[in-house]
Amino acid sequence: MKVFHHISELVTLKDAHQKDGRKLLESDLSIINDASIVANSDQILWCGKASELPAQYEKLEKFDCQNYTILPSWVDAHTHLVFSGNRAHEYSMRLNGATYEEIAKAGGGIVYTMTQTRNQSFEELKKLTNQRLAKLYSYGVSTVEIKSGYGLSLNSEENMTRVIHACKLEWENKITIKNTFMAAHAKPKEFSTTAEYMKSVVIPLLEKLAPEKIIDAVDIFHEKNYFTDEDTELLFKKAKELKISCKMHADELNDNNGAALAAKFHALSCDHLLMINDTGIETLAKTPTVAMLLPGTGFFLGKPQANARKMLDAGVKVAIASDFNPGSCHYDHVFKIAQFVAPTYKMNRAELMAALTLNASHALNIFDQGSIQPGMKSKFSLFKAKKLEDILYTWNEDLFFKHGFEMLR
Ligand code: NIG
Ligand code: FE
Repeated sequence: MKVFHHISELVTLKDAHQKDGRKLLESDLSIINDASIVANSDQILWCGKASELPAQYEKLEKFDCQNYTILPSWVDAHTHLVFSGNRAHEYSMRLNGATYEEIAKAGGGIVYTMTQTRNQSFEELKKLTNQRLAKLYSYGVSTVEIKSGYGLSLNSEENMTRVIHACKLEWENKITIKNTFMAAHAKPKEFSTTAEYMKSVVIPLLEKLAPEKIIDAVDIFHEKNYFTDEDTELLFKKAKELKISCKMHADELNDNNGAALAAKFHALSCDHLLMINDTGIETLAKTPTVAMLLPGTGFFLGKPQANARKMLDAGVKVAIASDFNPGSCHYDHVFKIAQFVAPTYKMNRAELMAALTLNASHALNIFDQGSIQPGMKSKFSLFKAKKLEDILYTWNEDLFFKHGFEMLR
C-alpha cells in the first residue's frame, strides 16, 4: 500500500460515475487539487485532499506528485489488433478517389487482409499482437478490446481467438484484455451468401469455443454488402443462449437502423454510428448500450464525423475508441484521436474524459474502473502536467508518464 501525495490535479470522475456517464458537465470531472490517493496494486483505498490524509496512512511510502496530474487509465474498447500485412496501396487508392466500398469490390478490404492473416502461424500473429499491445501500453492504455475477424474460416478464426486469449494471459498484470469473436466481419469467397457463411462457420465455431469461456463478446459488421438483420439476429440469439455479450459495427457507411437493433438485443455497444438516425439516438438514450465513436476511422476514410453532440444532448452514453486496424484506421493512439476530434465533436472536458475511461469500460462490461474512488481498481495514470488543461492542449507530445499500478508493485 502506498500514497500518491500532493497530486497537482486529480481527475476522479466521481460525479460522472454517479450520473452513469450521461449528460455530463465540467463539474462532473470532480477534480481535487493538491490531492492524495492511497492504493495497493489492485484497489484504491482512499482519495481526497492531501491535507485530509487519514492518520493511519501517514507512515506509508509516499510519492511526491506535485508535478503530476492523475486520470483514470485509458480504455481502448474497439480494436482489430490481430492482423498481418498492410493496406498501404488501398490508402493511396483512396487518396486518388476510390471509396472503401469500391476498394472492397475490387478485391481489397477485409478479405485482402484475410489472405495475409490466414498464412500466418499462431506464433507470428501473437508476436505482432504483442508488439502492438506494448505500444498501446506505452501510451497509458491499460484495458483493450481485441476482435478476431481476419481469418474468416473455422481454423483461422479459431487461431485468431486463441492468439487473443494467449495475449490476454500474457498481459494480465498490465492490460485487461477482452476477447471479441468477430468471424462475422466479411463473407469470404468460398460462400455465396452470408447466411451460408453464418451457418457453416460463425455459429458452429462460436458453439465450439463458448464452453472454453475464452470469448467475452461477439461482434458483427451489420452493413449493406456485409451482414444483414437476419444474420445479426441469428448471431445475437445464439450469443444470448451461450451467455456471451453482443456488440455491433452499426450505421457506419449507411443508415441501416443498426443502433436500434443493437439496443433491442441489449448490446454492450454499437460502434461507428456515422450515419445513425434519430430513432437510433432516441433508443440509445433510454438503454445501457454505449455509442462507441471511432473518429480515427472518420479521419482515415475521409468521412464526416459522427454527430456526437446530438447523441450527448439526447443523453446517450458515448465512448471513444481507436478502431486500430489495417484498412479503415491505421492509427493506434486513442487519446490523440480523441484530442484531435474533440473540437469537432464539441464535447466538453467531462464528456471527453468519460468517453475514454468510464463509458469505454462500460462498453466492455467493466464497472470497477473508469473513476478514481475507494473500491475501484488501481487503474489510473500519471501525466507530466500540472493540470488537465495542459494534457488536452499539448497535441505535439504525449504527456503520459506512468501507470499507477506499476508504482504499487
Ligand atoms: O471497424 N467496419 C468494419 N471493420 C473495420 C474495418 C476493418 C478493415 O477494413 O480491415 C472497421 O472499420
Ligand atoms: Fe472496427
